Amino acid sequence: MAELKENRIWIDGCFDFFHHGHANAILQAKQFGDELYIGLHTDEDIFTNKGPTVMNFKERSETILGNKWITELVPNAPYVTDPDWMNEHGCKYVVHGDDISTDANGNDCYGIVRDKGRLILVKRTGGVSTTDLINILLNRSNDHYLTINDDFITKYKDILKKFGTGEDGKTAYNGIYLIKNKTALETLQVPQFQEDQKYIYVKGSYDLFHPFHIKSLSQLKSKGFKIIIGVYEDAHEFTIMNVIQRSLSALQCKHVDSIIIGVTDDDSVITKKFQIEEIISIDDLTNEFAYLKDNGIQKRIQDNINLYKERQLKKLGKAEYEK
Ligand code: CTP
Repeated sequence: MAELKENRIWIDGCFDFFHHGHANAILQAKQFGDELYIGLHTDEDIFTNKGPTVMNFKERSETILGNKWITELVPNAPYVTDPDWMNEHGCKYVVHGDDISTDANGNDCYGIVRDKGRLILVKRTGGVSTTDLINILLNRSNDHYLTINDDFITKYKDILKKFGTGEDGKTAYNGIYLIKNKTALETLQVPQFQEDQKYIYVKGSYDLFHPFHIKSLSQLKSKGFKIIIGVYEDAHEFTIMNVIQRSLSALQCKHVDSIIIGVTDDDSVITKKFQIEEIISIDDLTNEFAYLKDNGIQKRIQDNINLYKERQLKKLGKAEYEK
């Protein structure tokens, strides 16, 4: 058994269809320590205990490894949190959202660690779950769309700033900007590096932030410039996540230095303010990960529709599911 470190935290889960609720759990966990070990369940264990995953293990791992707050990924972590695994990695405490999660037999996955006083609960993020996202995808509704205006800023500025921290999850790092009415640029947070850095400006929807985005941004970053991403507003094209969800999902990524929420028709608004070396659309990047866009996630979900419906029916009961 490794020496247990008070400041090394364990968090585990499926992290399927990665979203800002997952990232927020990771960020909250990071507040309890300097190091964060993340245990990822296998596809097989998730299938048995919960249902089919959208993303496979490799994709879920790659997505998690793009997160700026984690220290180490521990593959194949048991579905029921096992103190021996935590001991082996020197983690005294495990963090989980304050929802109850059960295995295939209905047992509390965190019962053992709770009894040992090693469980820390954090607030689960409302309004987002893998199931919600799948339902939006299936129904293709746009009730979730938002407008970037003063109310938007008031409502989301705190969470944006929390996600705009650096690797320690505590100190401000990213530049955060918004475009109102497709023209006015507003600063929410100045970056903690010199603002006159040269940037590559990468525009995109960043829907369902996934390995394609992460690897593309990583490749661009290797050119030696800071990365500023421009996140299209809602209704630019159909997106499963709305603009705040897409922005937060991107902001948790270690390759993103600054973010502009909203995109203008006239890039001079951006080029006057920032030193832009290159303007790129993430969709135009052709590389080996294009398969994810061509025949990937959406098709996979469509193929899995019946399995998801079954899973929901089993979990909620028919009347509740059809509400
Ligand atoms: N989590 C959270 N807020 C959400 C969704 C998940 O805080 N809206 C947390 C969970 O509590 C857990 C971690 O993210 O600590 C990983 O969750 P995961 O194992 O992926 O499963 P779920 O909780 O089922 O997440 P989802 O419903 O989105 O599949």
